[in-house]
Amino acid sequence: MSGCPFLAKTHHFKTNPTEEEDDSQKGTNKATNSEIVYGDYLQLEKIINAQKLQSELKGNRIHDEHLFIVTHQSYELWFKQIMWELDSVRELFIHNHVRDERNMLKVVSRIHRITMIFRLLVDQFAVLETMTALDFFDFRNYLSSASGFQSLQFRLLENKFGVSEKLRVPYNRRHYRDKFHGQDSEALFRAEQEPTLLQLVEKWLERTPGLERDGFNFWGKLQANIEEGYRKEKQKLEKMPNCEKKQDMLEDLTKQMEMFTYLFDSNHHEHLLSKGERRLSYRALQGALMIYFYREEPRFQVPFQLLTYLMEVDTLMTKWRYNHVCMAHRMIGNKAGTGGSSGYHYLRSTVSDRYKVFVDLFNLATYLVPRDWVPKLNPDMYKFPYIAECNDSSYSSSGSCSSEED
Ligand code: HEM
Repeated sequence: MSGCPFLAKTHHFKTNPTEEEDDSQKGTNKATNSEIVYGDYLQLEKIINAQKLQSELKGNRIHDEHLFIVTHQSYELWFKQIMWELDSVRELFIHNHVRDERNMLKVVSRIHRITMIFRLLVDQFAVLETMTALDFFDFRNYLSSASGFQSLQFRLLENKFGVSEKLRVPYNRRHYRDKFHGQDSEALFRAEQEPTLLQLVEKWLERTPGLERDGFNFWGKLQANIEEGYRKEKQKLEKMPNCEKKQDMLEDLTKQMEMFTYLFDSNHHEHLLSKGERRLSYRALQGALMIYFYREEPRFQVPFQLLTYLMEVDTLMTKWRYNHVCMAHRMIGNKAGTGGSSGYHYLRSTVSDRYKVFVDLFNLATYLVPRDWVPKLNPDMYKFPYIAECNDSSYSSSGSCSSEED
């Protein structure tokens, strides 16, 4: 007798189920009589056959060129999807559908989707980085003057978000559009003239309920509270026994008060706007700060999410630029780019606040104050959000709400 305890037992292993019993096989095979099948639906014929290795065409097939092409193509497809979402959001703003606050969820969901795509794009460089600099060197010459700099979609995307033409880093002392011709150049020009997401969000922020001077007057109340708050802080400090620490604290307080004096000075804001250091109008900035302070109120929760996601887009675009420049540095060192720029040095100069569209939203954190300095909302402000009187196109198929003015 064997010493193995398992052998002593009788096991009833389930044999393969008969065809009738096998749930995994219970579907109906439809592909044969369907009008459209997977490959046709996705136009795979075009996509899968769109990888033409220049090295192969020149009789010297280099393995990694395939990865290089597929990576760029997938980036371009995702750029397209980002623009799809971005255009739809811009449309909602342009046609004033956001006056119906229910539509804000749609706006926020789509911007959130854009952030998720960007996350993917930031990480996707890791796949291309499995190629070594030497592997790249083997086929780089075949690229000739082709360069990501000529990516039309990338430029359109930047323009539609609101990257300022004036703030762009010049490309070999030339305008970035000079590298584009014909229809592409026209499309870029158009995208510069169309309302950008930045401008649309700015107009929306300017309408933040509670900013009206003859109503809740958030800005006036906030200024009064902050001045009063600092006056009390100063009084408290002045009562402290004289010591070095007291002096430091007083100096610190004076700096903070000065910062707020500038915040409440509309001329100072205009000055920063003219230098490109602020992007939003003065009123829009007030609206954004209001949303920050009252983010927990039901009415401001979704707007706050939107502002958060907009900053996320900026952050991720900056990360994209950073990861891209690190990869380019690793692949080509200090050599010039195939497109003709100085390469690494040019790309490094684009990782900058000049390209941050919603930079004002980041800076708002400078102006956060203790909760009890924030003006208390009055009952009017707790009203239900504005809902369009007629259903707009987002809620019915019957057409759009007439675009009323404020
Ligand atoms: C081996 C990989 C890569 C290298 C060495 C590289 C290098 C460069 C260089 C040197 C430039 C500056 C323009 C020039 O002189 O050519 C550039 C620009 C650019 N590249 Fe790449 N790149 C690589 C991969 C990618 C990928 C995968 C994408 C995805 C679409 C991409 C998109 C871009 C874009 C959009 C620009 C314009 C950036 C700007 O002007 O702000 N690159 N690249």
